[in-house]
Amino acid sequence: MARIDKDTTSAIVAKFGGKPELLVQIMATIVNRFGWVPEDTIRQLATELNLSRADVHGVVEYYHDFRTEEPGKHIIKICQAEACQAMGSKALTDYAEKTLAMSMHDTENDITLEPVYCLGNCACSPAIMANGKTFGRVDEKRFNAIMDDLRGKA
Ligand code: FES
Repeated sequence: MARIDKDTTSAIVAKFGGKPELLVQIMATIVNRFGWVPEDTIRQLATELNLSRADVHGVVEYYHDFRTEEPGKHIIKICQAEACQAMGSKALTDYAEKTLAMSMHDTENDITLEPVYCLGNCACSPAIMANGKTFGRVDEKRFNAIMDDLRGKA
């Protein structure tokens, strides 16, 4: 994923009129485009929007998708909310952690593994999201197929 630079940050702030009350939308634009918000960018946003760094960090901490560490090339989110839990998301999470040799919230070998709390796909639990695409009724076999596809092995 591309690294955000100061000029791009300034352009995004300008697009939202430099309004501090639009910080969430500004951050969402940055994260959608670059996948994360580095500390330098947080500092720049605070300066350009005339906010404290604590204000900006508060927003980052509130919204789980506003990550401050660079994600892997592939972002896998496994739903941990109620309907998916009832249909085996915990076992699927254990399987994913074991087969990928990593834990939730980690980034290893180009993969970031994260929990998510409802993907709006409850009728097809357990659900996961892989690089922005939602998959339902994911069992171990389907999980492997999704990962193989992402890695270009399918
Ligand atoms: S609870 Fe998992 S998609 Fe809604």
